[in-house]
Amino acid sequence: MLNKLLTMVENGRVLALASDHGGFEMKEFLRKKLEDSGYTIRDFGTFSEESVDYPDMIHPLAKAVNDGEYTTGIIICGSGNGAQMTANKYPNVRAGLCWNEELTKLTRLHNDANILALPGRFIPFELAWRMVEIFLSTEFEGGRHINRVNKISKTL
Ligand code: RB5
Repeated sequence: MLNKLLTMVENGRVLALASDHGGFEMKEFLRKKLEDSGYTIRDFGTFSEESVDYPDMIHPLAKAVNDGEYTTGIIICGSGNGAQMTANKYPNVRAGLCWNEELTKLTRLHNDANILALPGRFIPFELAWRMVEIFLSTEFEGGRHINRVNKISKTL
């Protein structure tokens, strides 16, 4: 069982998902789409539209990605900003806040983002799903971007 789980994680078929109330409806929409596509989801909440503080859901997800428990996460709050700011406190996390397909592709190609941050109140759900598909299927370009990405966590 553990081996199977590890293999799934290595294959990127296990995803970590989290939102606050501002992203709850989009999270539920994306979770269903992802499960229908064969992904196993670890849902860090929230689990209703009741008002919550986004760091309470985003910190546990970001720590799990930071520690290598999950290779990829999707986080959603109303604007996407609070979720992204929280996640990027962790040195191994690169959370990209995106609101269209091109930005989503670029944050994988150039930034090797391991978390996609979405503005749940500002983009259509179908667009968010297309962005998730792009995020999951785009490889890091490497090359000149490797040094840049390595420097991100080296604060002065
Ligand atoms: C919640 O109202 C809202 O502040 C939150 O979802 C997010 O937009 C914060 O950055």
